[in-house]
Amino acid sequence: MLIDRFGRIHRSLRVSVTDRCNIRCFYCMPHERVDFLPRDQILTFEEISRVVDVALDLGIRKVRLTGGEPLVRQDLPKLVELLSRKPLLEDLALTTNGFLLPGLSQELFDAGLRRLNISLDTLRPETFHRIARRNGLQLTLQGIAKAIEVGFTNIRINAVTIRGINEDDIVPLAHFCRQHDLLLRFIEFMPLDAENNWEHLLVLSGAELRRRLEAEFGPLVPVDGIDPSQPARDFAYADGRQRVGFINSVTEPFCSACDRLRLTAEGCLRNCLFGHDEWSVREVLRAGGSDAEIAEQFRQCVQHKKPGHGIDQPDFLRPRRAMYQIGG
Ligand code: 5AD
Ligand code: SF4
Repeated sequence: MLIDRFGRIHRSLRVSVTDRCNIRCFYCMPHERVDFLPRDQILTFEEISRVVDVALDLGIRKVRLTGGEPLVRQDLPKLVELLSRKPLLEDLALTTNGFLLPGLSQELFDAGLRRLNISLDTLRPETFHRIARRNGLQLTLQGIAKAIEVGFTNIRINAVTIRGINEDDIVPLAHFCRQHDLLLRFIEFMPLDAENNWEHLLVLSGAELRRRLEAEFGPLVPVDGIDPSQPARDFAYADGRQRVGFINSVTEPFCSACDRLRLTAEGCLRNCLFGHDEWSVREVLRAGGSDAEIAEQFRQCVQHKKPGHGIDQPDFLRPRRAMYQIGG
């Protein structure tokens, strides 16, 4: 098993399948001149599948596919098919901006995917453009509709909230998600934007969001019994219709229960979004290394995990990579 120095058992692996994306959210990517990885540096599906097999052997039970935007990776449903067939994998999920869901939902569903997180920060086209620096709100909405139509259930919506940008979307997003029976999760803006504009002032805390929602919907009731390693804190609306969650990564770090590791698109293992160290499994794979050697990279990575990210500490240093280069 993958147990770190603080006793945390690692069960979840987030796999980035590409650093590319069809939009340019300011909290993630640079506006232009994006420094994308050359294709030959990106793990093939066979390589990813082998790394996942080793991870399963070490006790990993959940895999989330991320990016960049995972659906821009050619033939992604083929990878889903490879992974969804693995008996030890209890949970396979995908995080997407939804743009390509109108065309791909059915194929993804048929390949065995059942869990989808779709990013939606606003319901206003101008604000969408301000955040994503591309148009496309309609595409995301069509993507959500299509996913529902082909049979996805328990779809989650991720909304990153930024002071002064999408504050006025909080309540409308909540109404929208209740109406369509989607679980909405607000995520605090983290210092992982490529252009380095993050500052504490821009973070809308989950506590503040909760107050604003309660003013509209009445008291939110904490839902217990949820997996403690899960970063979201979920609440039921007073009328019992749907829930809403908060991922307060900045103001209420959940590092002490973190069970996640990350595999970047070019095959580096990371033990934290905010970490500075990486362990390359691609080097091992392409040097003809054994599964035991891949497993050793996992162990090293876990052994070096720090107790927390320390965003609020004075000596906090941002990671060299931005969100799109790590995997959300
Ligand atoms: N802070 C918080 N969330 C972020 N995401 C991307 N960049 C950031 C950031 N700097 C979110 C996206 C998506 C998921 C992959 O990560 O909105 O929901
Ligand atoms: Fe693309 Fe997601 Fe990054 Fe936005 S947050 S630029 S949709 S990868």
